[in-house]
Amino acid sequence: MQKLAIQGGTPLRGEVRISGAKNAALPIMCASLLSSDALQLSNMPDLHDVATMRKLLEQMGVKAAIQGSEMTLSGAHIDKLEAPYEMVKTMRAAVLVLGPLVARFGEARVSLPGGCAIGSRPVDLHIKGLQAMGAVISIEHGYIHAQVPAPGRLKGAHFFFDMVSVTGTENLMMAATLADGVTVLENAAREPEVMDLAHCLIAMGAKIEGAGSDTIRITGVAKLHGATHRIMPDRIESGTFLVAAAATRGSVMLHNTRADILETVLEKLQEAGAHIRMEGDGIHLDMAGPLKSVNLRTAPYPAFPTDMQAQFMALNTIALGSAMMVETIFENRFMHVQELRRLGAQIDIEGNTALVRGVEQLEGATVMATDLRASASLVIAGLVAQGETIIDRIYHLDRGYEHIEAKLSQLGANIRRLK
Ligand code: EPZ
Repeated sequence: MQKLAIQGGTPLRGEVRISGAKNAALPIMCASLLSSDALQLSNMPDLHDVATMRKLLEQMGVKAAIQGSEMTLSGAHIDKLEAPYEMVKTMRAAVLVLGPLVARFGEARVSLPGGCAIGSRPVDLHIKGLQAMGAVISIEHGYIHAQVPAPGRLKGAHFFFDMVSVTGTENLMMAATLADGVTVLENAAREPEVMDLAHCLIAMGAKIEGAGSDTIRITGVAKLHGATHRIMPDRIESGTFLVAAAATRGSVMLHNTRADILETVLEKLQEAGAHIRMEGDGIHLDMAGPLKSVNLRTAPYPAFPTDMQAQFMALNTIALGSAMMVETIFENRFMHVQELRRLGAQIDIEGNTALVRGVEQLEGATVMATDLRASASLVIAGLVAQGETIIDRIYHLDRGYEHIEAKLSQLGANIRRLK
């Protein structure tokens, strides 16, 4: 089990390059199942989850070629329509092969994703949507088995999401591209990663209108062809580095990112006292004055992203004042709280609300990562704590942050990976 050792107290200063978005790359990789032509992707992040998704697609017959941050995927010789439990249990996003497989081949067997640390995370809406499009779905021995009755083509449907679901929207949007007729998705997720997937599908010949709004209209076509697509920047990696810079009272410049997909995060950072400046493909943050506590409430895009809640909690633990933080998306996304308390944070939880009272100083300690964004929160806390912090189980971190200790060292952090 690898660990990170961090000596806190150094303000982050300098420039860092943001990688492609994990949550855009994963659904877009699954889009390769929709066509027998090659899908050429650039700005791909080097992440554990991307490697897992590649292996999952390869065991189905997808050919993958990687050259640095370029990846070419070809779905010409798919010979297995199954996503096995061993691969799905480590990465819930594997459920994103379901829509494409059913749409192109009329059948799929995908392991039900287990729960995870942050919540039960069911996929009932993915299933209901495919049923609305004509798939017959049974759950057998922990697997979702979907079949489309002869002639084996999904039909366009009008589907209302009774909860906003990012991967639910992505799964059904991909399935609808090859369905017979028009599909309308209501109360669809508006996340930028959904839009990035739509842009890629449109480049492959799909007919999609309204991606990025809460109503997406897809007119099915007979076939999709190959395309080239550049993965959008990772807004959560961007937000994480900006919060780390603010918490350590530093001054950093992020390159290869975008400010228009981070509005609520940038607003909260300014409320905390940071000075933010946009420069071309970059965002500059300078934290000179006092750090102020910020209240926040997570909700679907364009509201404050749940994937940034844990990082802001680390900032609030050492800010002036108290903050109310409400998590409305997942039922158990406060796993980082008990670890932050080990570093001296003052946090009380009442249901889905955390009250964080800022303290003068955190004290380094040994803590344990429990999920991807919780581990980012512990890194930020370690960067500001006095003394050494050891973070265990950092495989969670490697799932979603590319070479994080190298990027942080580049900004002056005293951080090293312990084998
Ligand atoms: C995506 O997960 C992201 N993952 C998550 O990022 C992110 O936290 C989440 O969206 C919310 O923004 C990827 O894009 C790969 P949801 P997803 O379906 O799609 C409930 C990270 O850190 N729900 O939008 O799984 C669900 O339980 C990860 O990168 C149902 O009830 O999330 C949750 O409470 C963590 N039934 C809420 O909806 C369903 O069929 C939102 O979930 C689907 C979802």
